[in-house]
Amino acid sequence: MTDKSSTAGAASAAAVASTPRRVLYANATLATLAGDRDWGLVSDGAMLVEGEQLRWVGTMADLPADLRDSAVELRDLGGLLVTPGFIDCHTHLVYGGERSAEFELRLQGATYEEIARAGGGIRSTVAATRAASESELHALAVPRARALMAEGLTTLEVKSGYGLSLADETKCLRVARQLAELGLTVKTTYLGAHALPPEFDGRQEAYVDAVCAWLPELHQQGLVDAVDAFCERIGFTPDQTRRVFEAARALDLPVKLHAEQLSDQGGAALAAEFNALSCDHLEYLSDAGIAAMARAGTVAVLLPGAFYFLRETKLPPIQALRDAGVPIALATDHNPGSSPGLSLLLMLNMACTFFRMTPEEALRGLTTNAARALGLPDRGRLAAGQRADFCIWDAAHPRELAYWFGRNPLRQTVVGGRPRG
Ligand code: NIG
Ligand code: FE
Repeated sequence: MTDKSSTAGAASAAAVASTPRRVLYANATLATLAGDRDWGLVSDGAMLVEGEQLRWVGTMADLPADLRDSAVELRDLGGLLVTPGFIDCHTHLVYGGERSAEFELRLQGATYEEIARAGGGIRSTVAATRAASESELHALAVPRARALMAEGLTTLEVKSGYGLSLADETKCLRVARQLAELGLTVKTTYLGAHALPPEFDGRQEAYVDAVCAWLPELHQQGLVDAVDAFCERIGFTPDQTRRVFEAARALDLPVKLHAEQLSDQGGAALAAEFNALSCDHLEYLSDAGIAAMARAGTVAVLLPGAFYFLRETKLPPIQALRDAGVPIALATDHNPGSSPGLSLLLMLNMACTFFRMTPEEALRGLTTNAARALGLPDRGRLAAGQRADFCIWDAAHPRELAYWFGRNPLRQTVVGGRPRG
């Protein structure tokens, strides 16, 4: 197919000008994930991209001739695999410093909770983050985002929570927003209720008041897409979490929760009461929590990187989540304390090896269900009307993406219809 604009008459040239450019991707193996189960595999597949959207998806043979002929460019994929673009729906990507000394302490027997209670953990990252300027934090975050992009990232969620003052939370959320310039969709989550900053020692309730008071200000600056909290023995109580959620509700902002990571606090049921987009971690999730999430349509975001790096042994209740019909998403949880990894493909592999998810569930977890965990129904599948965010892989079958580790078969990422350079 050639560029037809030179041969088109005046009338059709005007029509071409008003229609976004159409590109036909042909001869592909598509893992569409279009239905609620199975890969939605299409061999000899075709996708017509129109501007930023997928206009048509199916087999080459079923592609209507007029649509085929409307494309100004043909890309023959020679049988390569296409999946929806990867979505990392839970990260703490913006921070200063690193915590390898803490890793050594844990290897000598100290627990994550003990280190946090002794004033290390999140607090040490808060000190390093406060000491860094906005441009320094940006310079640190860009290569992290690029590492995720090298494995097909198209949409990224970034939480604050290492600033813990209005000025420092603002700084971190601004850096997160700037990452969109790399060619990503970025969603930002305000996690003021992550840890108690030292200047509020002994005044936890007053800190929660401050977290709630900062929210309208941050929201007004357009820096907040959702609100999260760390509901845990070493974080915030369910009552304090409820106060933060009420502040979010007053602004019509959706909530998410770090729930039942180290103990069962009943956080998932609380979050479900607020129709949370997602509850994340969930190793200690109870049956009551699962039932509440199922009723509310809340997504379970599982974080195999944190499970691995904290050498957790208690598995999240995968089978019970499946039985209850709770959608399961996966994410890197990238952060310097519990999950310093930057590989989305490794998350697929770990979800299968540690959590016994199927490769198909794992892929759905990084695409369809991750989109849902961010409230983004316009992406996560290959189907007409969806955003044209997709990955082209050197693989014959999508299960290979969960099978290899330390090998990256990505050939090309397309974001909003544009191939990433
Ligand atoms: O998702 N659990 C709380 N927050 C992070 C860890 C933060 C840190 O240790 O710096 C998590 O695992
Ligand atoms: Fe987290």
